[in-house]
Formats: sequence, C-alpha cells, structure tokens
Amino acid sequence: MTAGEAPAPRPLAGRRVALGVSGSISAYKAVELARRLEDAGAIVDVALTPSAARFIPALTFRSLVHGEVAEDLWDAAAPAEQHVAMGRRAEAMIVAPASATTLAKLAQGIGDNTVTLTALASAAPLIVAPAMDHVMYNQAAVQANLDALKARGVLVAGPAAGRLASGARGLGRLLEPAELAGAVRSAIGRAVGPMRGRHVIVTAGGTREPIDPVRFVGNRSSGKMGFALAEAARDRGAVVTLVTTQAPPAGLFGVVVRRVETAVEMQAEIAKSSPGADALIMAAAVADYRPAEAAEEKLKKSAEGEARMLELVENPDVVAGVEGSLLKVGFAAETSDLIANAQAKIAKKSLVFIAANDVSQEDAGFAVETNRIVLLDAAGGVERLPLLHKYDAAAAIYERLVGEPGWRAV
Ligand code: PMT
Repeated sequence: MTAGEAPAPRPLAGRRVALGVSGSISAYKAVELARRLEDAGAIVDVALTPSAARFIPALTFRSLVHGEVAEDLWDAAAPAEQHVAMGRRAEAMIVAPASATTLAKLAQGIGDNTVTLTALASAAPLIVAPAMDHVMYNQAAVQANLDALKARGVLVAGPAAGRLASGARGLGRLLEPAELAGAVRSAIGRAVGPMRGRHVIVTAGGTREPIDPVRFVGNRSSGKMGFALAEAARDRGAVVTLVTTQAPPAGLFGVVVRRVETAVEMQAEIAKSSPGADALIMAAAVADYRPAEAAEEKLKKSAEGEARMLELVENPDVVAGVEGSLLKVGFAAETSDLIANAQAKIAKKSLVFIAANDVSQEDAGFAVETNRIVLLDAAGGVERLPLLHKYDAAAAIYERLVGEPGWRAV
C-alpha cells in the first residue's frame, strides 16, 4: 500500500514488456527501469548485448524480473529460440540504453545478438532510448539511423542534455527511468489503448492571481489530481495537453505541457488547444476572484496597526466558457453539502458529469496521493468511488467518459 488504504496503481498490469540493454555506462539505469516496469505490473523479459553484460551482469536482472533474461545467443542451457519467443510475446519493446552501434543494427535490420534478434522477432511497438557521447550523437550516420527508425514508427525517447560520461556536456544522456517507463506506457496506449487518437485537455493546480510581483492569491492544489488524469489519458492512448500552474513530475513522457499562472491565462491556453479536442477534464482549482489590480512594485507595509483592503474582481468561469463539441468533465471541491453543491455545477457549467470531492478529509482532495470521488451526472446519477490512488480515480473517470454517448469511440 502506498497511501492510506488505497493500493498502489498498476498501470501495466498483465502486460509483457521486452527490455533490450546495449553497452553504455548508463546501463545501470536499465536496472531501475526494469524494477519500475515490474512495479507498474508488467512482466519484463530482458535481453543483453555482450557489451551490456560487461556493464551489468545478467544475474542482476535475473534477481529482479519475473520474465526471462537472454544474454548469450549460443547458451546451450537457454530455451531454444528464446529471442523469438520474447519478441513474439512482447506488447512493447524498449531498448535502453541504445548505443550508436545498436541503433545502426536496428536501422539496418541486423540481428546478431539477443537484443537485435528480439527486436526483429517482434511486431510490438519499439522504443529506443539513445545514450552516447554528444559528438557521436550528432554524427550524420547516427542521425540518419534515428530518422530511418522514426520513419518506421519507432518511438525515439531522448536523449537528454547534460553531463556525459566523457566529462563533456551535451545531448546524449539516457532519459531517467521514470521517463522511460512513461514512454513504454505511452507506446502501449497508442497501440491498443481505448482512447487512442483522441485529444484530451487536462488542467492541474491552483491558479495564482498576482497581488504584486512577489505575492499572489492562491489555494492548496498541488496539481497531483491533474497529473494523474494526464498520465491515465496518455496511458490509454490519448494525445494529452496538460495546462498546469504547477511543474509536472518526471514520467509524464509524451504529454504536451503548457504552464500558466492565472485563470485568464488558463482560459487563453485552453482556447488555443480546444479546437478539435475530444474532452476537457477540469481538475484545476481556479480562483473565482482575482485582485482588481496587480501592483507593479512590491507593496510596502501599511502604517502600524492600519488595516489593508484588497479589492477583488470576478474571474471568468473557465470551464463554462469553453464552447464546441468536446465533452467537459468538471471537479467540485466542497467542504459541506457535497452532493447538492456539486450537482448544481453540472448544468451551470454544461458538464457531462462532475467529480465531487470532499476536500475537508485528510486522505482526499488537496495535496495527498489519494482521493474519494463521487461521480454525478445531470440525470441525477450518483456513483460513489472508494478511496483510490489519484491515478486509479482518473482511470475510473475515463472508464465513465468513454461510455458517454457523445464520446467518439475508437
Ligand atoms: O491538485 P491536488 O492537490 O491533487 O487537489 C485536487 C483538487 C482538490 C484541486 C481537485 O480534485 C478538485 O477538486 N479540483 C476542482 C477545484 C475547484 O476549483 O472546484 P470548484 O468547485 O471551485 O469549481 C468547479 C469546477 O469549475 C472545477 O472543475 C473548476 O476547475 C471550474 N472552475 C471554477 C472556477 C472558475 N472561475 N472557473 C472554472 O473553470
């Protein structure tokens, strides 16, 4: 259990993933990636190139994963045609780290070790995560191989810029395990997810309405509920635009992030993204009022004992103002009369349904990992969800959304 009594989410439950590891100092991150994928519910098979096995012995992976570990193509003790079986049963394959040599072999269809042969034997989505020196990465030959792989639908994850093994700084670092696990989830979602090809806009965090350059009117929203909604939509194959006031965590691979501060900025960003979108999930805590004027300079303290008045003006109702055929799902943060207060917002904001949460509870609402949501619709339907991790609450919201009459089925 991670938070309260709610079990940890397992977004890859029942999935089989092949992890190919090639020779790079960053191969140690593949160990953490294997662990993350298994923690997410996947069974991971691992294939190592001979160079990878020099950096990380196969034994390390054997102790960690519930799948098979293939190392030596000529190992008489290994199951016959092990790489073919691993490639066939994989629902996604990720090669991380992918060295320049392994990328070249994958681009050319060369199968001379367990990694390249598993990739050749697989029809599943392939993700490659390059890791190498920045001069190598920028070579025309390496870029041409990456272009060839992209043109065939291979998902290229990274590399990131930063300090490299050579001591130089540049583009060539392997992405972090959380991001790589996100890439795997994204690739599976886009291949078979129930929301594939759909565009979902998710909002997250509390708006910050400036008083002066250093102060704002805000609220307790951490963005966690919105991030979970973005992640869950991405895992179901949707193209996701996340409009957020808070910095998202690593692992939201593939999600388009738009940072905003105020309600008016959030409204403008949604307006840019909404043409053609299929749904808007409004988890952000939007301030109903903002200071009438934001001072240009930091406000000075009043004379001792003197009260200070702050004039507030009404913000636009962001979700109510969004027009078009997209389905709108709202949230209601209440501290009393949860059902009645939330119900009143459905028609007022033209929502297909609303997720009501009692934010006075310790294990639900603001800033915690879990939520206790009641889904309410215009027809008076009431569905009470148990205490769930926010990711699983998001999953329940999408299960409901894809069953709505207005949802374009895939
Ligand atoms: O971010 P976390 O720490 O994980 O916390 C999650 C949460 C408690 C913020 C989230 O679960 C939640 O309840 N979000 C909605 C908060 C809120 O603004 O509720 P409301 O009842 O005031 O507004 C109702 C709906 O109208 C919401 O979808 C809100 O986004 C929207 N709204 C509100 C005011 C406004 N001016 N424009 C809006 O669009």
